[in-house]
Amino acid sequence: MKPENRSSVCPRRDGCAPGTSAIPGGRTPAAARAAAARAVAAVQQGRSLDAALAEIVSALPPALAGERALIQEMTYGTLRWHFQLLPLVSSFLDKPIKESDADLKALLMVGFYQLLHMRVAPHAAVKETVEAAVVLKKDWAKGMTNAVLRRLLREELPIRARIAADEHLALAHPAWLLTRIKTAWPDDWRAIAAANNARPPLTLRVHLGKVTRAAYLERLTGAGIAAHAVPDVDSALTLESPVAVESLPGFAAGEVSVQDAAAQLAAALLDARPGERVLDACAAPGGKAAHILERTPQVALVALDLDTRRLERVRENFARLGLAGTIVQGDAADPSGWWDGRPFDQILLDAPCSATGVIRRHPDIRLHRTPADIGRLAASQARLLDALWPLLAPGGKLLYVTCSILPEENAQQMAAFRARRPDAQAWALGHPAFECTARPAGTGFQVLPGAGDMDGFYYAGLTKILASS
Ligand SMILES: C[S@@+](CC[C@H](N)C(=O)[O-])C[C@H]1O[C@@H](n2cnc3c(N)ncnc32)[C@H](O)[C@@H]1O
Repeated sequence: MKPENRSSVCPRRDGCAPGTSAIPGGRTPAAARAAAARAVAAVQQGRSLDAALAEIVSALPPALAGERALIQEMTYGTLRWHFQLLPLVSSFLDKPIKESDADLKALLMVGFYQLLHMRVAPHAAVKETVEAAVVLKKDWAKGMTNAVLRRLLREELPIRARIAADEHLALAHPAWLLTRIKTAWPDDWRAIAAANNARPPLTLRVHLGKVTRAAYLERLTGAGIAAHAVPDVDSALTLESPVAVESLPGFAAGEVSVQDAAAQLAAALLDARPGERVLDACAAPGGKAAHILERTPQVALVALDLDTRRLERVRENFARLGLAGTIVQGDAADPSGWWDGRPFDQILLDAPCSATGVIRRHPDIRLHRTPADIGRLAASQARLLDALWPLLAPGGKLLYVTCSILPEENAQQMAAFRARRPDAQAWALGHPAFECTARPAGTGFQVLPGAGDMDGFYYAGLTKILASS
């Protein structure tokens, strides 16, 4: 196990930006570590990573503004390796740390993350992490923090050997999830785990109604941002190194959006025609709905979602991209509350799921998902399918999508639905990207995480045969 290449933030060998001034509660490098520890502890206590980090970053004093990328890197990285770092830290402690000091335990994990996975000068990492205990108002823990981190430095080689010899430490997945991945993908589970542990690329969707991909690539090059076209996905570009979206040329003008290449397959598979009525039943934040409209603005698109706040994001995205769709708040499992009775030619069901295909983007999934969630999510997906099927016109098409890699939510879900609905026939999906990167999986195709540098997505197509409703 080698320290990872840090592509998203600049490597800082001294852990301290020149010229940064002192701030209340500590110097900036120490305060950055304390902020990361607070975010990690909040996620451990059940908050989502996005929410925890957004709150902590928005409360940063101006002197820490330049540390955002480092805080994000340490928070994401510590959570990515949580199931390795937590047992290691615990094994270094003489007695367990109290619940009320969860931030301190998280700080030790942040310290271990720096020493095992980041290219930070070890002594600077130790010094600033020890100082971070003071920022957390745990001055009493400075000695213990120092002793534990220095012991890791002394014992680094045997610890790396211990990690390499222990599959659970090396792969850093919860045991139940690793078992499920092994069962589902006996030939691919190691590659899947490795992909889950890698930093994800930043991939863009070019609004082809506004600019060609080649022209946008040139604009990126002109702005000093290196990128390459994703083979077989005509709208997708992947950056060689992530940048802030605001620095992307034409972002505010709607020329480009952030979206993984696997997610960009949905609109191409649907290939909606002008005048067709299309329902995106779980639309927020609107990535796939926007892509459908970018390809064919004359589609009559209804973007439905249960979550009012997330629908705001759909509104913002449509406005930025210059798109017109009908945005509706409602429960897709209960169309009586919002459906006007007119059938849809196409339905996109991008169902709420375990998100086991996008762990590389959301490392907190490892902490928050439980085995019980899988059955609960599969039952809710079945309810959504059953409720939406009657809304489809005879001859119409339903595209079922998840960002899961578990068969219960994917191939088995489709098989069970087709057994319940004899009027649901498989619609053979075809896309050049599937030829190299996807596995046939029951009625549909599974893109595994990391294949073609894409997220893990499942796609299945159903068409309603004319005989019955
Ligand atoms: C995977 S996300 C959709 C992502 C979206 N299609 C995109 O490409 O940007 C799933 C969405 O389903 C919504 N959702 C969950 N249960 C729902 C329900 N019963 N009815 C409608 N929307 C629901 C969630 O609020 C969430 O926004």
